[in-house]
Amino acid sequence: MMKQDLLQDQVAVVTGASSGIGAAIARRMAHAGAAVAVNYSRDVEGAQAVVGAIKKLDGEAIAIQADVSDEAQVKRMFEQSLKAFGTVDILVNNAGIQQDCALVDMTVAQWQRVIDVNLTGQFLCSREAVREFLRQGLRLEVSLAAGKIICISSVHQVIAWAGHVNYTASKGGIDMLMQSMAQELAPKKIRVNSIAPGAIKTHINRAAWQTPEAAARLLKLIPYGRIGVPEDVAKAAVWLACDDSDYITGATLYVDGGMTLYPAFSSGG
Ligand code: BGC
Repeated sequence: MMKQDLLQDQVAVVTGASSGIGAAIARRMAHAGAAVAVNYSRDVEGAQAVVGAIKKLDGEAIAIQADVSDEAQVKRMFEQSLKAFGTVDILVNNAGIQQDCALVDMTVAQWQRVIDVNLTGQFLCSREAVREFLRQGLRLEVSLAAGKIICISSVHQVIAWAGHVNYTASKGGIDMLMQSMAQELAPKKIRVNSIAPGAIKTHINRAAWQTPEAAARLLKLIPYGRIGVPEDVAKAAVWLACDDSDYITGATLYVDGGMTLYPAFSSGG
């Protein structure tokens, strides 16, 4: 793959980048020329592998530990990133978890942990990033925008999902967090958008694609006829971070092979 310069001289913080979608985004952004802070919560080996892969291709990256739901840790992560790279131009709010349970059995701890990581984490990281975007101001030599935030949401910001009320509530919340930030920050030349992935092959949904039977059931929900891969999301993230999408803010890009087209309605209804 030819190295591109779409994000040359920019710095990206990617949360939850030690595996899955976040790891692919970190690598693609580095490939597009950005220096990348590879955030992880517990998987230090995974984060180091991503950093190693980036460096191998002459990219710049460091691994930074932080639980995005913890204010002090998020502040420390941005301090470390600023120290290493001088500023931040792009934030990808990717860190997310599932703790699935029927409503009647769900504990407050299960509810709270998912809201804390998936939703509060995006608020905390966005706040720190925006503080830096405002401090730094426009640098037209690197980008037409003073900063870009990409929130990784899910098709489940619009598709209800039984057995996952904590997760769907967090993703629905991300949609309004994203839109309200976009409205508030557009006059400051900061763009905020979401990507809503469908079924992407990662460890979070292994049970849904691991066996041929499960994969066949899953494919019934995907009109385009294939399960997504992290690269599908990573390519969209680079586009939303670069100036090719300069007039786009407050939007959700569904990267889902048509899952949100409700294929059950392709006949009948
Ligand atoms: C979830 C996956 C699920 C996919 C499609 C994602 O947000 O994390 O577990 O397979 O949505 O339902």
